[in-house]
Order: sequence, then structure tokens, then C-alpha cells
Amino acid sequence: MSSRRPLLLLGIAGLAGALVSGPSLAVAAPGEPGSPRYSEGAAGTGDPYFPLAGNGGIDVLHYALDLDYTPPAAAPAPLEGRLDAVATIDLVATADLDRFNLDLRGLTATEVTVGGKPARFEQIENELVITPRPKLKAGASTQVVIAYGGPTTRPTDIEGALYGWVTTRDGAMVVSEPDGSPTWFPVNDHPTDKSSYSFEITVPEGLVAVANGLLTGSSTDGDRTTWSWDAPDPMAAYLATATVGNFVLDQYTAPNGTPIIDALDADRPASAYADLALTGEMLTFFESLYGPYPFNSYGAIVDDDSVGYALETQTRSFFSRNAREGTIAHELAHQWMGDHVSPERWADIWLNEGWATYSEWMWDEYRGRDTAAETFEAFMATPADDPEWDFVVADPTPLGLFAGPVYDRGAATLHALRVKIGDEAFFELASAWVERFGGGTASTQDFAELAEEVSGQNLDAFFDAWVYTPAKPTVW
Ligand code: ARG
Ligand code: ZN
Repeated sequence: MSSRRPLLLLGIAGLAGALVSGPSLAVAAPGEPGSPRYSEGAAGTGDPYFPLAGNGGIDVLHYALDLDYTPPAAAPAPLEGRLDAVATIDLVATADLDRFNLDLRGLTATEVTVGGKPARFEQIENELVITPRPKLKAGASTQVVIAYGGPTTRPTDIEGALYGWVTTRDGAMVVSEPDGSPTWFPVNDHPTDKSSYSFEITVPEGLVAVANGLLTGSSTDGDRTTWSWDAPDPMAAYLATATVGNFVLDQYTAPNGTPIIDALDADRPASAYADLALTGEMLTFFESLYGPYPFNSYGAIVDDDSVGYALETQTRSFFSRNAREGTIAHELAHQWMGDHVSPERWADIWLNEGWATYSEWMWDEYRGRDTAAETFEAFMATPADDPEWDFVVADPTPLGLFAGPVYDRGAATLHALRVKIGDEAFFELASAWVERFGGGTASTQDFAELAEEVSGQNLDAFFDAWVYTPAKPTVW
């Protein structure tokens, strides 16, 4: 197709230009006349919102991240930390590759091996370009080891919101949605490539490093402590964390059997996280709606610094300063809706935020506050000429990823769908969605098709009015 441009035209000198001017989305088919048998993996996965996020030609199976971190010196020193790390990445080549990329932003790679052999590499903007020798054949597994590091700051996303490895006074808040993971490790940064993770995080003794999954050990050597975490469930890169701070770990088992590890900032009052006592009951409630909790553990991180929002970091939701009931329900519901089933493309974000927000509405009803129907009615009281309706939920644009309508109109879409197809079909749809797409990604199209399949109704007009038209839905 048109994106299948012959790599011969690009050449080595053309690579930098291609990275800046736009991605070459396809890998030239090896063996095509006139093209080399081996080719370079694309610089991006072709997500229309973040064309250079992720990479072509590789499928990462596992990231083992060995992170050595020192937070900033006492004020008035600048808020700059220091990260020295080794990423050991198990991957499979999905094309015959003489070169491939990973995403890495603001940190410097110092040594790269592929399959145990030194590899040439260069950093061009936010791409780490690796030249493996021998070349990689399609289907071959290999291990890539990258030593890297540098000073850490407080990165921001395209909206100016803090994200990625956000340096704090006593550690770091690590929350990477949508494309912040490259600020702390070399990564195939797109939800379509999920992987297992393990972490060894070494910090000054007295600080605690909290990552995804289960704590497998901690040991102190001299004045440094290493925290080991294991996260075997497939995870999108934006959901990984390695947050460091003055935490107390609170461990218990929820009524549904899930091991819970909360990391509570000792510099916050207990009132900041008292609502976390509802976690066990919430797990039971959301299991009744969406099916079994999909991961090996859960818990919250409550930091005393703030990125201005909370994030559904997989198995370990992150909260800025306070964890309040509504947000706790929201981030927990994301574990099924967003984490286990992730967006195929970033434009599908309403499937994350709409479900998480609708989960808050249903939790409110369960707790005896407003019913979901009442919350929906209140939302629909917004007059048709309100600019809020001038928004395409299924194509919010990169700057609108976290805009209000993605959340509230997304939730209203789900309630309207529930009314249209009935409770039985709606809740069958919810659990079938998780069952069918769990562990991977799915799109708005997948959702509409499954809704039609489960309900037996034609829902074209419904989805047209609710997620594809920038106007208040009137008939559907
Ligand atoms: N997914 C998060 C939530 O709704 C919000 C993330 C906002 N991220 C950002 N870079 N602004 O809980
Ligand atoms: Zn959310």
C-alpha cells in the first residue's frame, strides 16, 4: 500500500529525516524485488495521535528493569534526580530486521547488546536506533540489554501535564499515560505490545520503591536498599510504575482473595487515604459486573506530591496527595476497563474513561447515593447549545484525550446503551468485552460489533449519535 515505501529510498542518511518528517509505517517486505531482504523496523506503530510511539518489527515479551535512583539533594538544590539503569528486554522480531528502534526520551544509552553481542546504536530525537549483528530473522527471539541513564526532571505531556518519571523532593512519581514511558526506560511504547515486567529498584536506605505486581523481596547493602517486584500479567507500557518515596507498605488480602499492597506516604495524614478501606468491597462489586479481577495483586500508591490527577497504573493505582472514594472506584474499575482491555489506538480512550466514569456512577448507586439513571438525567440536562456537545467522543484529538466529554459523555453513552439494549444484554456485553479482549487491545469498532452481537440489534444510529457526531444526541 502507499505506506509501504521502499526502504532503499530512505537509506541510512534518510532515517533521521523520516523520524522527524513522519513515520515509515511499514517494513518493506523482505524478498520484494528491489528491496533488501532485511529492513529496518518502523519508528512508530502508526497510531494517528502519536505516530512515533511504539516501534515496528518487534514484539516485546518481557522487560526486566534494573533501576538505580537517587532523589534530589536537599533544597535549595534543583529538583533533579539521577537514574542509572539497565533494561534487559526479551523480544521477538516480527520481520527480518537489520535495524530496529525503541523509544527513549531524555536519557542517554551508553551500551547495547543484542543476543549477547555488542550492537551499534544511535539516539535520534526520542528514538533509540539499534543495529543488531547478526541481523534478526522474523520469528527469532533475542535478548536486548541496554545500559542507560541521566539526570531526571519533571517531564510534561503535550497538554503540559506532568507525567513520566516525575522527580519529587523525596523520590519520583512514575505515571506515563499516554506516551511517557520513554522518559524512564527504552520501550516499545504502544498498548498493542503488552509485556510482562520485573523490577529491581535501588534507592537510598529509608526510601521505598513501589512497582507493579507483587513484592518479591527487599535487601539493604550499605546505605542502599533494592526493592524487587514481579508483574507477570501482560501490561501496556503506560501502566508501568516504579514510584519512589517515603512510603509505608500496608499489605492484606481482600475478601475476593486478591493480595493488596498499599503504599502510603508517611508525610500524609491518615485522612488522605482512609477511603481505601473500601477497596475490598469495591473489588467484590466490580467482579460482579465485569468478571474476575484480572491480575495477581492490587493496591494504591498515595504520594505527598501531585501530578494533578490519578492514574490506573496496573495493579497499583496512583493517587496524588489524596485517595477519595469516587477516584478509588474509578481507578479500580480501570483495571478491567483500560488495563486488561486496552485501547487499540489512543483515539479509543473513551472506552477507558467512559467505563471508569460509569463505574463510579454505578458504585454511587450501590452505596445508596444517586442512581446511575439520576446521574445520567442530570448530565442530559446540559442544553443542546452547550459547547460541551461539540465533541467527537471516538476521535477526541490528541489534546482532547482527557477532556471532560471523554469521561462524562463516554459514561452517558454506556448508560444510554444500557437503556437501549436492556440490563441483561448490557451486563453480558460488559463481561464478554473483558473476556474476549482481556490481555490485549480493542477498538470502538470492536465494541460496537460486540454490542450488536450480544444484543441482536443494529446499533449504527446509536453509535453514530453518541460517539461519532459532535452534537447532543436526541434520537438513538
Ligand atoms: N487515566 C487517568 C484517569 O482518568 C488520567 C490520566 C491523565 N493523564 C495525563 N497525562 N493528563 O484516571
Ligand atoms: Zn480514568
